Amino acid sequence: MSDITTVILAAGNSTRFKASKSKLVYPLCGLPIVSHIFNIAKKISGKNILVVSNEKNKEELKLILNTSKLVVQKKQKGTADAIEQVKKFVKSKNILILFGDTPLVEVKDIRKLVSKFKKSKAKASLIAFNTSEPHGYGRLLLNNNYVEEIIEQINLKPEQKKINLCNSGILIANTKLLFDNLKNIKENKIKKERYLPDICKIFSKKNIPINYIECNKETMLGINTLDDFNVVQNILQKKYVKNFIKNGVNFLKPNTCYLSYDTKIEPTVTIESNVTIKEKTIIKKGSIIKSNSYLEEVTIDENSHIGPSARLRPKTKIGKKSKIGNFVEIKNSKIGNNVSIAHLSYVGDSEIGNNVNIGAGTITCNYDGKKKHKTIIKDNVFIGSNTSLIAPVVIESKSRIGAGSVITKNIPKNSLAIERSALKILRNKRSK
Ligand code: UD1
Ligand code: CA
Repeated sequence: MSDITTVILAAGNSTRFKASKSKLVYPLCGLPIVSHIFNIAKKISGKNILVVSNEKNKEELKLILNTSKLVVQKKQKGTADAIEQVKKFVKSKNILILFGDTPLVEVKDIRKLVSKFKKSKAKASLIAFNTSEPHGYGRLLLNNNYVEEIIEQINLKPEQKKINLCNSGILIANTKLLFDNLKNIKENKIKKERYLPDICKIFSKKNIPINYIECNKETMLGINTLDDFNVVQNILQKKYVKNFIKNGVNFLKPNTCYLSYDTKIEPTVTIESNVTIKEKTIIKKGSIIKSNSYLEEVTIDENSHIGPSARLRPKTKIGKKSKIGNFVEIKNSKIGNNVSIAHLSYVGDSEIGNNVNIGAGTITCNYDGKKKHKTIIKDNVFIGSNTSLIAPVVIESKSRIGAGSVITKNIPKNSLAIERSALKILRNKRSK
């Protein structure tokens, strides 16, 4: 919508969050809180987005959002002051304001807001929500279904504390009218901040109408504390799981799993309990991820079985019908089809072909203390249990390695390699 500039407020001090960094860069299901809202903004106004940052988080926000349209609010003097910073940059007829800390907002609700705003004679429209736990939110005072005033928590009179209709912070307004009146917002005496919602009182005193739409409270939650963060993250997790279940993914104990914003799971996959799936992970049809497995930046092809208790680290690809068992760690490796690494192994910086069996306790010794080296195991190889493969090393196809070997040289095709000292049996040496 070309007549709208979206402004995202992201300059707050995050005092209540009690973290060393701005709460807005904190990953929520793997994506910074502010990116969730930035992605929504892109769907509404394309590139026409301005982000208000502070001195401390500006570089990180620039990097995360990949945008140069950042305006710095030098001192955190409140949401009205933050909006004032973008005055000279907003050229469009209307301005949409989003708070960086309300990441569950849905595009359809903003579209509904824009549509109501444009169809009515109101010069500003906002999103409100009803909640039985309104503490901390600005409350709406209405007059004939128009917004007369928003009162912040600290200014509420005792009887107003019962009001359940809250301000979400999402506001669209006529740009000129907003900026003309913004300067009249006075500093709050208690907090020494200028509050954007005070614009409502100024508008209604001048008979400039402000209306509102009401949306589901779950989508309007703001993240102020770590407690809020957990509530919001749980809501998102439930949403992801519900979507996957609808598409045919079977979760044995959905509430115990963690998924990321970009997790892709195909229908007919089963996910058992306590599975963690970090960013950039794809799981294809028919695969089973068994309990307590941890996957990060991994692609698992069709019909493979992972875990229980497997750890698959970044840049790992598992082929079709392969089996990665308990206490197996794999990193930066490509594993072929029909491969079995069933117990207690470490595979790093490796390429493993098809139909390979890796015995229990096999380790790729990929690190010499300075550099990482590669292990290549070709098709139809059998590696006996407890083998150490000292990389760089290549095991050519159809070869076998005897259990307990330390392999320091490349092994040619069709060979049997055993590195093992001869067993000595000394008779009658029984301990007492
Ligand atoms: C704000 C609203 C409140 C609403 C609630 C919804 C105000 C005064 N109050 O309260 O009515 O119910 O959100 O979640 O607006 N920010 C800046 N610069 C500043 C201060 C804040 O950019 O100087 C940014 C913050 O980074 C944040 C957003 O503005 O993204 C909202 O600020 P916050 O302090 O969280 O306001 P709330 O107390 O949650
Ligand atoms: Ca907030």
